[in-house]
Amino acid sequence: MKRDVKKIISEMTLEEKAGMCSGKDFWHLKGAERLGIPAVMVSDGPHGLRKQAEEADHLGLNESIKAVCFPTACATACSFDRDLLEEMGERIGDECQAENLSVILGPAVNIKRSPLCGRNFEYFSEDPYLASQMAAAHIKGVQSKNVGTSIKHFAANNQEHRRMSCSSEIDERTLREIYLAAFETAIKEAKPDTVMCSYNRINGEFASENHWLLTEVLRDEWGFEGYVMSDWGAVNDRVKGLKAGLELEMPGSGGNTDKEIVEAVKNGELEESVLDRAVERILNIVFKFTDNRQEGKFDLEEDHKLAAKIAGESMVLLKNEGVLPIPVQGKKIAFIGKFAETPRFQGGGSSHINSFKITSALEAVKDVAQVTYAQGYDVKEDVIDQVMLDQAVEVAKEADVAVIFAGLPDAFESEGYDRSHMRMPDCQNTLISEIAKVQENVVVVLHNGSPVEMPWADQVKGILEAYLGGQAVGQAEVDILFGKVNPSGKLAETIPYKLSDNPSYLNFPGDGQKVEYKEGVFVGYRYYDTKEMPVRYPFGYGLSYTTFEYKDLQLSADKIKDTDKLKVRLKVKNTGNRAGKEIVQLYVADKTGAASRPVKELRNFVKVELQPQEEKTVEMELDKRSFAWYNTEIHDWYAASGEYEILAAASSRDIRLKKTVYVESTRELPMHIHMNTTIGELLENPKTKAVIEGMTDSLIQHMGGSSEEENSAASEAITKEMSLKMMENSPLRSLRSFMGMRTEEIQELIQKLQNAADHQ
Ligand code: BGC
Repeated sequence: MKRDVKKIISEMTLEEKAGMCSGKDFWHLKGAERLGIPAVMVSDGPHGLRKQAEEADHLGLNESIKAVCFPTACATACSFDRDLLEEMGERIGDECQAENLSVILGPAVNIKRSPLCGRNFEYFSEDPYLASQMAAAHIKGVQSKNVGTSIKHFAANNQEHRRMSCSSEIDERTLREIYLAAFETAIKEAKPDTVMCSYNRINGEFASENHWLLTEVLRDEWGFEGYVMSDWGAVNDRVKGLKAGLELEMPGSGGNTDKEIVEAVKNGELEESVLDRAVERILNIVFKFTDNRQEGKFDLEEDHKLAAKIAGESMVLLKNEGVLPIPVQGKKIAFIGKFAETPRFQGGGSSHINSFKITSALEAVKDVAQVTYAQGYDVKEDVIDQVMLDQAVEVAKEADVAVIFAGLPDAFESEGYDRSHMRMPDCQNTLISEIAKVQENVVVVLHNGSPVEMPWADQVKGILEAYLGGQAVGQAEVDILFGKVNPSGKLAETIPYKLSDNPSYLNFPGDGQKVEYKEGVFVGYRYYDTKEMPVRYPFGYGLSYTTFEYKDLQLSADKIKDTDKLKVRLKVKNTGNRAGKEIVQLYVADKTGAASRPVKELRNFVKVELQPQEEKTVEMELDKRSFAWYNTEIHDWYAASGEYEILAAASSRDIRLKKTVYVESTRELPMHIHMNTTIGELLENPKTKAVIEGMTDSLIQHMGGSSEEENSAASEAITKEMSLKMMENSPLRSLRSFMGMRTEEIQELIQKLQNAADHQ
């Protein structure tokens, strides 16, 4: 059915239109029966349904319907699997149709700037490209079921501390390359129906009333066509927000801000057409849902199985010194740790799902092997319980292998506040070290939403990072521990040795008023790798029970224009005797020297399944954005002419193959020449070089260096090379001091140089 939304709007009163721009209650938009506008419902998200019926709240305090908790984003990102995320999205979309939810809030694509952000478990990665791909797949999956998504929290909401008032102070290039990029690509590729603006300010301006962000960037540049909703309670000035491009305020304001909108139209502060446009954008999405209802399916058991599969594809095997997989027969196995019995599988706050069932490792293992169990530690408080500890050590001693289920208890990380350190509870660290003293085959399985320090890493033989793996986490853990599933996840973030290694360490979480992103674009591996800093486990790293060989890297061309696409091909072979999946990563390293850049950046990846000894050719594409950085002189993406290395890698620290491509820029940077333009800059541009070149010899002479090879004391003090370097750093105004030129003469020269530079 084709709706005439404009006509409906023309029949609405001013009050009705203003009312459409805020929620009816916590989860519903307003409807208008006489105009056939239904009051649709939205709900959290993102990794399952949190549909609350009564007594709604946004922090997960009150019960919602029984649903399926899929693995959280910190886990699913490690799958590097677009198809898997799409499948999960489809299933969630189906559930939404069954439950009559028009929009499911999420995915959340904020960049993991610091391991301390309390909400990192809901975010995908420290890398914007990976985050964009996971988010786009999630959105496509959900929206294929005619249910909307709300990509969030737009933008630069990278901490919980003072999240509703703090200003993220970020330079333009960093904002574009790191903090907006995941939104940009996901929005362009997957077209989410809605965007949720964040609580915080960006360079002083609230996201909820930021015209540049919500209109100039989001709509004018990226072509977003849905509606923007506020995060719950993110509105500061309602009328300013509406003008800036915030269509829907959530939740409702008891009608107060609706009145402000009406008043603003009446007194001429707000043009009614702005309000009409906002209502139109909201109604388009409302009707998109109601006019395309389809039968939804909410098969809890089926979805639980899918949750187990996704968790199995996402866990990351960090260490394995011959201890995994555990043979089912002939070994005495001990499971130790509270999380074996009651796993931590999701984070606290608005994404908290009321799981209809939870599979623990202790329960799942019953179908596979016999194990002994000791609780080992308490999760309520971080104190060593000597009785529990002794029991656990005894149980471990008696076994051939001890698997310790450890990680962060709920109180250690949650929406609403940040962590204050990167450590696990002391009682758990002690438990692991004590067990390692009596048992040589120790495996640690970690449950956490963000990296932890691992002081015991060298004392154990195996580490499996399960992250917060959803309600079927125990099933997936057992499948991997005993080899039914071959681990194939890789880290979507770097695990540093210690917190102070992290690039944001000195500037996180700021002074409460503002937080300065002083590390710039050097976030995560972009920093660690450029600094050549040792890390516990690098970005993109993860082990398998088999091995893979990379060969025959081929580029579709040696030289391209920045407008061309480059195809990259290579062969990957499973060289072991187990089927497995490998994540092949493609990084680009800028060798042009045109800007200060990270040593390499992830630009594409592919996950490939291979039978034992099987070989496949994989192909990936690179385009201008793969080479470009955000140039603040032209306020646009720019790839300088020159060489770039294409790196095929198994992790950011495991480059297997590389080739070089020459990229020719089709964009000429404007040059503005003035008194302080340096001779060096003029020599870099062939057009200005032609003008200035003739003067350089005499300038060198005047600066004290000899243009002739002379064996004099003077030429020993300042060689020609030294003078040349000095000259390059000299601005045009110094021609006055060294060449005796008059100011007017220099100005004439500047004009000549400018003409040459501007000449096509
Ligand atoms: C969170 C959002 C969430 C909303 C609704 C807010 O506190 O920041 O992510 O979608 O509540 O529950």
